[in-house]
Amino acid sequence: MKKITIAIDGFSSTGKSTIAKKLAQALNYVYVDSGAMYRAVTYFAIQKGIISNGEVSIEDLIKALPEIQISFKYNEDLGFSETYLNGENVTKAIRTMDISRNVSRIAEVSEVRQKLVEQQQEMGKEKGVVMDGRDIGTVVFPDAEMKLFMTATPAIRAKRRYKELIDRGEEVQYEDVLESEQRRDLIDSTREDSPLKRAADAIEFDNTDMGIEEQFERILAFAKRIIEA
Ligand code: DC
Repeated sequence: MKKITIAIDGFSSTGKSTIAKKLAQALNYVYVDSGAMYRAVTYFAIQKGIISNGEVSIEDLIKALPEIQISFKYNEDLGFSETYLNGENVTKAIRTMDISRNVSRIAEVSEVRQKLVEQQQEMGKEKGVVMDGRDIGTVVFPDAEMKLFMTATPAIRAKRRYKELIDRGEEVQYEDVLESEQRRDLIDSTREDSPLKRAADAIEFDNTDMGIEEQFERILAFAKRIIEA
């Protein structure tokens, strides 16, 4: 059967990764979480003092880029891929509020984007890949056969993220999550290099009032129609 490239973009906490993961599993495709790569660079930058109090030393960051190796390794027991930064498993460490608060500042640096986009294109060159992010349908795979742009209201997105963080044991306030999310979306969609925007040929999918299973069924049916066409 023909293999395609599936690009899923959208604002934060729109459920992109949940859908992308399920889709990849159902189709036996590779799933790549491109946001995890920007988060891993942010983790590195915080560890090395390249970013502090929200200020990034761009010069130091660019100099350090060759030292940054990001990879994914499938964990059979967990049933998903884990993120590694220079050999260290950073899967959990990159999901904190501290990383979320700082990641947009790192993701707007063109040299960072160039490095990660190259790696993403390499990972998807055989097709049979589902990748989620902000610029997958516009920059990474502009020729992807299937492109989705996920949206939901800011309040429902913040609620989902808040629940996720609380379930993970982080002490956060809903208002802080909402504020951080809105700030991040604003930076992501107004930055100069590869801003978050719907590709002209992407299908917009608003899941404010839709559960995961219903979304998944619809999206999987859509993918199968493209694959079998
Ligand atoms: O999907 P996420 O929330 O884990 O992404 C983290 C950040 O990384 C997000 O605020 C913007 C950035 N990002 C990006 O600029 N381009 C991508 N393809 C994926 C993520």
